[in-house]
Amino acid sequence: MKIAGKAYRTIWLGEDGWSVVVIDQTRLPFSFETVRLTQVQEAADAIRHMIVRGAPLIGATAAYGVALALRGDASDAALERALALLGATRPTAVNLHWALARMRARLIELPETERVAAAYAEAAAICDEDVALCRAIGEHGLGLIRTIAAAKPVGERINILTHCNAGWLATVDWGTALAPIYLAHDAGIPVHVWVDETRPRNQGAALSAYELGAHGVPHTVISDNAGGHLMQHGEVDMVIVGTDRTTATGDVANKIGTYLKALAAHDNGVPFYVALPSPTIDWSLSDGLAEIPIEERAAGEVTHLRGVGEDGRPGIFQVTAPGSPAANPAFDVTPARLVTGLVTERGVAPASFEGLSRLFPELAQER
Ligand code: MRU
Repeated sequence: MKIAGKAYRTIWLGEDGWSVVVIDQTRLPFSFETVRLTQVQEAADAIRHMIVRGAPLIGATAAYGVALALRGDASDAALERALALLGATRPTAVNLHWALARMRARLIELPETERVAAAYAEAAAICDEDVALCRAIGEHGLGLIRTIAAAKPVGERINILTHCNAGWLATVDWGTALAPIYLAHDAGIPVHVWVDETRPRNQGAALSAYELGAHGVPHTVISDNAGGHLMQHGEVDMVIVGTDRTTATGDVANKIGTYLKALAAHDNGVPFYVALPSPTIDWSLSDGLAEIPIEERAAGEVTHLRGVGEDGRPGIFQVTAPGSPAANPAFDVTPARLVTGLVTERGVAPASFEGLSRLFPELAQER
């Protein structure tokens, strides 16, 4: 993704060749700042405090966190400590556990002297693969957008609604749900994106709007409650969102509020797609509602909003009645029956075990 003419991934190695640099997503969209991670604890804090967020980027950061941990001590005990520390940061995104399991499998049999180099190489491979997976998701999703465009009068805009941020900032590059939109825009298809603000942390208003704007994609930020109304009035041709964990049976955990959009889409006959790379599939689960752990975050994210004032100064503002308690479940589960299709790096699958296992037979087999 290009920001002010310069191409960026969301995570890269510092000039010293070993520290890990990430974009501080808590500062966006008002300030583009980077943070240098030098210890595993800093990587864990970056994930926990959402300096980095989005399932694939959480996994990539954790992988580099393992490499940072091993620089000081490459023993089995240090490796297991790092895996436990990083694995406890955020509960819902399965990419975190996928990346840590992959790091462990790669490193545990190696002599200690070889572990640091192997850890950096594996983390880099996870990042490069994520870019390729997201690009492939983009190509398959582009096919869906082309089909919708073909059914409309030439030049009429295609309205796509998205929730949260499943774009470049949530991955290493391209994004999942936003990748097809970028490719469609680049192909000259007149796409316009309805961006759900995505309370409480406003990943839509702050992050999706920021990156869509940087890429020149026409978009409009809407309040979280506007999507159903727009669908009732024929203003949404397609919904596409990301996911933090999708079961083997196609149930989808994503940012809180996704389920309500799926319900509204179902009621209005609007296709509801979920974009995901295969590391987001949890093949061990078959009942999303019962089995996917849902992160509960601090009530302060609901009671207070971050923003900038009219004078351009950043601030945190209380928006609830003083003393009122608040609850903050960060994700919800959309049942497979409400999902039109899963857009993966290998194509679009029905949201079912049959659909996923047809595309990923080797992964389904390991189940
Ligand atoms: O709490 P966040 O910001 O990490 O939540 C992110 C999402 O819900 C994304 O939609 C999901 O991780 C998919 S990212 C490609």
